[in-house]
Amino acid sequence: MPEQTPVINLKDQDPAVRKMLEQKLRAKEQQLLMQNSETSRIANELEKIHMALAKIEFPEIEYLDYIKKNYHEKGIGSYLEVGVRWGDSLAMAKPDCMAVGVDPNFDLKHDLPSLPKLFSMTSDDFFFQCTDEYASSFELVFLDGLHEARQTAKDIWHSLDVLKPGGEILVHDVLPISMTVANPESKSHFWTGNVWQSAYAYCGKNYPLKWEFIDAFPSGLLRLYDIDPEFRPPRADIAKSVRHASQMQFEARELLDFLRSL
Ligand SMILES: C[S@@+](CC[C@H](N)C(=O)[O-])C[C@H]1O[C@@H](n2cnc3c(N)ncnc32)[C@H](O)[C@@H]1O
Repeated sequence: MPEQTPVINLKDQDPAVRKMLEQKLRAKEQQLLMQNSETSRIANELEKIHMALAKIEFPEIEYLDYIKKNYHEKGIGSYLEVGVRWGDSLAMAKPDCMAVGVDPNFDLKHDLPSLPKLFSMTSDDFFFQCTDEYASSFELVFLDGLHEARQTAKDIWHSLDVLKPGGEILVHDVLPISMTVANPESKSHFWTGNVWQSAYAYCGKNYPLKWEFIDAFPSGLLRLYDIDPEFRPPRADIAKSVRHASQMQFEARELLDFLRSL
């Protein structure tokens, strides 16, 4: 019988137990990555391992709960979401919140209490067409669209134009539990894309903003706040940082440790 992936108790806070489980899962990940058998079976197995690793790494809160608790329950008045899909995150905006969703392929499966304005287009098209209309408008921008580093770096840049002074930007999927899940050709069904490289481009650079990586299940959030309303970093500097990050290599949990050290 094949060895089962251990079931992880989300509330298990004992660091020694967590470490031991993590090491076991990472060893299993490496074994699977070296196998040449059927791709879909490996992808399923890897997904279970990556999900279990994420539960160990982020035991406290899930990203939707974090956003709900820290923003919507506090009553933000305006919200932009890039990447809507089924509306899971957009559904948290309250009826009195001016909400806007952008996604070329949304497929709503929820009632949306805020009755948002929905734009069926890419973020590039939205920012090109609507930045004047929404200049300095949003208290929170949540970026969860195309999971590609250069695109996300651009989405952050464009968000600065529509952010209300004092507003914040949240970026999803910035803490990949291993390089495997961040690889554009990931072998696992658990996938974050290389969004972390866009986080690297904005953090630790003496820019006039503050940042915080949030340990939210399953793959972390980046919070950009206290942003100087005039701040527009040179696009070439951002592109250079993304290129730099794309050449970095990390093993096991080194990528997580590196990002948290920024
Ligand atoms: C991970 S889903 C969003 C999930 C949603 N935010 C949630 O938490 O439930 C990513 C979405 O981004 C959309 N997307 C892909 N490329 C995009 C782009 N260039 N601009 C905006 N949205 C994009 C996809 O269509 C997909 O629905």
